Amino acid sequence: MLVLGIETSCDETSVAIVRDGRDILSNVVASQIDLHRQYGGVFPEMAARQHILSITPVLREAMQKAGVTWDAIDAIAATYGPGLAGSLVVGLNFAKALAIARGLPFIGINHLEGHIYSAWLRLRPDQDAPLPEFPALILIVSGGHTELVLMEDHGVYRLLGQTQDDAAGEAFDKVARLLGLPYPGGPHIQRAAEQGNPRHFEFPRAWLPGTYDFSFSGLKTAVLREVEKYRKPAASSKKQASFMPVVTRELPVAHIAAGFQQAVIDVLVGKVLQAVEQYGVQVVVMAGGVAANRPLREQMQKALERHNVALHVAPIALCTDNAAMIAGAAYYRLVRGERSPLDLDVDPNAPL
Ligand code: KG4
Ligand code: ZN
Repeated sequence: MLVLGIETSCDETSVAIVRDGRDILSNVVASQIDLHRQYGGVFPEMAARQHILSITPVLREAMQKAGVTWDAIDAIAATYGPGLAGSLVVGLNFAKALAIARGLPFIGINHLEGHIYSAWLRLRPDQDAPLPEFPALILIVSGGHTELVLMEDHGVYRLLGQTQDDAAGEAFDKVARLLGLPYPGGPHIQRAAEQGNPRHFEFPRAWLPGTYDFSFSGLKTAVLREVEKYRKPAASSKKQASFMPVVTRELPVAHIAAGFQQAVIDVLVGKVLQAVEQYGVQVVVMAGGVAANRPLREQMQKALERHNVALHVAPIALCTDNAAMIAGAAYYRLVRGERSPLDLDVDPNAPL
């Protein structure tokens, strides 16, 4: 079954064609990062308008790269939420129009479920990696979400815990901003941290014992306190009417980045290990943009190996937002006979 997937929940316009939830024929992602970087984050109205400009060329490119005609496509899938309302509307309505025009089945997909199914994708058909088995413990770590979920079967989820404040990716983005690194912060923090000592600063870890919840705002505040030590308020001369802080001593960006990143990793690995033990699972799936973080992948892998637990995580390029994961998730719903009505609305806060 060939599914054409569409993803426009945030700042990536993406169209992909995926066979049987696994093999990617094409996955075109048009990033708006350069557009939003000047604002230090995603500017929702501009994101929606950029999706309108990009979606048709991205669709054409995806069809061309897959080398298929419309006759080969079996269904159309698109993200309905969670995400930015204006951005979601563009992809969802585009998908419905295609389904009507081509007389194809249509299905709306939850963005978080899409991230999970990124672990079922493979970049090349000759890759013989085993598929995750159930029950699986799922760690979703993205820009908007940090959730620990027990997945008992395809489409069957039990939420064990979630962040009480910032998502892990959001914390990376906010700390990057404090350190003067560009948006999105994750990859820049990772790069800066390579030159730093993760033990130079011991930032706090919020364990929230007895729960599988997370909290990253205290960590972010601890980084802010550290950064403030290197700045002093602008001189109170009348000419200099700026309240912007000025850097007085050189900020140890690499050490702070490394200490922050390690604090996030320790909590994510620690909570996963606790849940693995309590629920007796032998499979862990890690998904979402932060799962692209190399030290997190390596340390999670090592920790789980010691417990004989398998870690499934998508190739780095498929951890951040893309339409292949939406087409992949759609396949497992379509084979169960699921379809969505054509009046399906976007849901910016859709739970998994
Ligand atoms: O899943 P995603 O592409 O979008 C959402 O659904 O939110 O995740 C984006 C988030 C951003 O916060 C970004 O900083 C983070 O993933 N991210 C990373 C890395 N690459 C992307 N965080 C840490 N290390 C990375 N290498
Ligand atoms: Zn995402």
